[in-house]
Amino acid sequence: GAPVEVNVSKLQPGQMLRVEWRGKPVWVVKRTDEMLAQLAKHEGQLRDAASENEQQPQYATNQHRSIKPEYFVAVGICTHLGCSPQYLADSFSAQVEGVPSGFFCPCHGSKFDMAGRVFQSVPAPLNLVIPPHKYLDENTILVG
Ligand code: FES
Repeated sequence: GAPVEVNVSKLQPGQMLRVEWRGKPVWVVKRTDEMLAQLAKHEGQLRDAASENEQQPQYATNQHRSIKPEYFVAVGICTHLGCSPQYLADSFSAQVEGVPSGFFCPCHGSKFDMAGRVFQSVPAPLNLVIPPHKYLDENTILVG
């Protein structure tokens, strides 16, 4: 499939854009400073906080799993059985206490943080997949 250009110029902090790439949903979220600060606080509750066993390009092996900290780009497919997790921008603490934002899969209850890292004690075995991507300019991400 062809690479997909995503214009993020109108994306506000906390908002998500959805595009399709190779028949898969791809999310682009502009994370807030609070979302980024939170990433370091719950690592003890994650299955693979350092994303050592995960699918991501080399440039996304950092804590925020992205090129620029604010933009999170991920394949929006649960790593359990392929359902589509919901983005809970400010109601995720009902799923994991003390973590305000994240992704919740309604099929069997898997939970992922704002870097797509899976929490412990859920069915999904792996973090969300990060697709290959790059910046064409400040406001344009090329996925694929
Ligand atoms: Fe997401 Fe099972 S498919 S928890």
